[in-house]
Amino acid sequence: MKTNKRKVGVSELAEGMTLAETIFDIDGKTLFSEGLKLNKKRIDRIFLLNAKTIFIEEIPKRTEKKANDDFVKNKIEEVKSLNKERVLNEARVEASKVVENIIEQVMDARSIKSEKITKIVEKIIGIVLQDDKVVLNLANLSSIDDYIFSHSVNVCVLSLITGIFLGFNHQKLLMLGSGALIHDIGKMLVPVSILNKPDKLTEEEYKIIQQHTVYGHKILRDTMKFSDEVATIALSHHERVDGKGYPNQLSKNEISKFSKIVGITDVFDAITSKRVSCDKISYYKGVEYLLKNANTQFDGDIVKKFITIIGYYPIGLYVQLNTGDIGMVITKNKLCPVVKVTIDSNGNKLRNHYEIDINRNPSISIVDINLEEYQAKQRLLN
Ligand SMILES: [Fe+2]
Repeated sequence: MKTNKRKVGVSELAEGMTLAETIFDIDGKTLFSEGLKLNKKRIDRIFLLNAKTIFIEEIPKRTEKKANDDFVKNKIEEVKSLNKERVLNEARVEASKVVENIIEQVMDARSIKSEKITKIVEKIIGIVLQDDKVVLNLANLSSIDDYIFSHSVNVCVLSLITGIFLGFNHQKLLMLGSGALIHDIGKMLVPVSILNKPDKLTEEEYKIIQQHTVYGHKILRDTMKFSDEVATIALSHHERVDGKGYPNQLSKNEISKFSKIVGITDVFDAITSKRVSCDKISYYKGVEYLLKNANTQFDGDIVKKFITIIGYYPIGLYVQLNTGDIGMVITKNKLCPVVKVTIDSNGNKLRNHYEIDINRNPSISIVDINLEEYQAKQRLLN
């Protein structure tokens, strides 16, 4: 199995971890070779070196990503050999140019070809499939100056990652990614004075903004000649499962899965884009908002899947581990919090709770979230 390196503080070393790099003593002689498993004696020796950090092997946790057709498998092989940072950067620049170009063409009322969009989405799919940790680079995506460009690309990337983890094939990923990239294209037909109004919108102005969904649908379907499934993403990404969205107040299964996904990633990116540099608090805010509104505004199953992909778990959230045990998150640590286990894999309530530090146990991961319990707790607090 392919392993990644992870830098850990010497104080975090635990028995069973595997060295990802050879460790030398103060005379430059090999002390412990790469690939060696750590035991207590070896950890004590490393302590004596006064090193602050070392690299250990990390076993990839996410086994549920499915390469479910030949395109996906081939794409993974193709992009493995490329420089990830360079490809990501190129795609980012290209994506922003494409979106900018589309916007210009819409303003000129010229015809736009859907092929332009699918070409860039193909590229983004390749990058996302290469490494789902690409999501960590979303902060870089925000370096694109104009919010609407960076937001479009972020929503596309987040939606594709979600689609991959839901097992979508190439064709479905292309449709989802295309609709996600230009889901807000209809905003170009809303007067800028209303879009950028700093004060509270009047009821009339809010109705005009809501029309961006209808405009977008028309552009995607009639001008760009996208299929109904893709065009519907622009139309329905503000519909909510409780029927309180717009423009058609659709509910539950009346809303397409594509639109439900983009509805979630659109809101999540809007919340987290308010972050200042390196501030991860907003990620927790985004996750908390989705948890709070799951099954009312957003599809609960997709929210749960999305959060396990993003990997930010608020303290107090009950989660299920891949061991079957259930427990409560008690520390904040992206992907790797400490979980206090209260129910074992057979469903038995434990009299003696114990803690699992996922950071120190690379083979353990969170696979599910208890939404109902979190929401009940929030209701009590408010
Ligand atoms: Fe929108």
